[in-house]
Amino acid sequence: MITLSVVKADVGGYVGHSSMHPDIIDKAKESLEREKRSGLLIDFHVTRCGDDLQLIMTHGLGVDNERVHKLSWDTFLECTQVAKKLKLHGAGQDLLRDAFSGNIRGMGPGVAEMEFEEREAETIIIFMADKTSAGAWNLPLYKIFADPFNTIGLVIAENMHCGFRFDVQDVKEHKRIFFNAPEEIYDMLVFIGAPSRYTVKAVYHRVTGEIASVSSTERLSLIAGRYVGKDDPVCIVRCQGDFPAVGEVLEPFTMPWLVEGWMRGSHHGPLMPVSVAESNPSRFDGPPRVIAAGFQLSGGKFVGPRDMFDDPSFDEARRQTNQIADYLRRHGPFEPHRLPLEEMEYTTMPQVMKRLEGRFENF
Ligand code: 13P
Ligand code: 13P
Ligand code: MG
Ligand code: MG
Repeated sequence: MITLSVVKADVGGYVGHSSMHPDIIDKAKESLEREKRSGLLIDFHVTRCGDDLQLIMTHGLGVDNERVHKLSWDTFLECTQVAKKLKLHGAGQDLLRDAFSGNIRGMGPGVAEMEFEEREAETIIIFMADKTSAGAWNLPLYKIFADPFNTIGLVIAENMHCGFRFDVQDVKEHKRIFFNAPEEIYDMLVFIGAPSRYTVKAVYHRVTGEIASVSSTERLSLIAGRYVGKDDPVCIVRCQGDFPAVGEVLEPFTMPWLVEGWMRGSHHGPLMPVSVAESNPSRFDGPPRVIAAGFQLSGGKFVGPRDMFDDPSFDEARRQTNQIADYLRRHGPFEPHRLPLEEMEYTTMPQVMKRLEGRFENF
């Protein structure tokens, strides 16, 4: 069995929150290379989406492994030192706890891990986003694994006709529920259509039980109790064979749907699919970005990445993103560009409310 672990954190932005300094990537590579040589990791790839550092690793130790989580945490700490030296913006931004205690979950970084038997050809796409929250994957995961208008394989491929099983988490109450698609899609949409509260954690093949997808669902603001930065989540999708084809997995990203995030994490904005080189959200600290790294795995070694959105067939989605961005920006501080009050609870709202409390009169 192979474990694929993607662990990510914002350890400091360059310039502002727009991108990442190359020295941070170099430091992360140095740290993971050490542990590849020591035998802990089979292989690794380091990349970034905007200002978020992405550690993509394979090993044989299973999910939630203490040594792999500790390595990730220590790597983020080392990279934070580099960020501090360069006085980058928000050095160590996502590292919310002081001491590592066995598992990186709940400490700030985002985690998506899956364990599987490597297939004859193991095709993987890793989506990584910046300037948005956990929950941003609900819509594309629904389209990929439950919508026949997106995934023709659900209709004409015998090995997918059975449908997929969704693991949906209530991130506020810490409860989960499983839904079977297609027969329970109407029930499921009641919940996953509200992505700030209900997030798709994983998807499984209905017959084989094989894992098809897993996402990071950590919500920074719920861990910290205040706004520190956006979750900027990641999502792993296995493709081909019993799973949707690469083109079916990429297809939802032609529609720049609205997500939470953008400036100060407090706005709705369209998600723009871009190449890694273009993942530098600068206009109003956005609009939110998503990149896709494609790999074939060979004995746990990464063959790749291919930069999947580096393709003119996504130009139209990028153009539409800019049009939607213009339109939404004209709303300024008004909803629904600005997030609803409930979400603002984790921004400046409580302080403003506290200051003005005594001035509210009954009428
Ligand atoms: P190939 O025949 O090129 O393998 O393509 C099959 C397929 O399913 C494309 O979506
Ligand atoms: P990040 O979550 O990407 O650091 O962005 C924070 C922010 O406030 C952007 O305006
Ligand atoms: Mg940042
Ligand atoms: Mg970020």
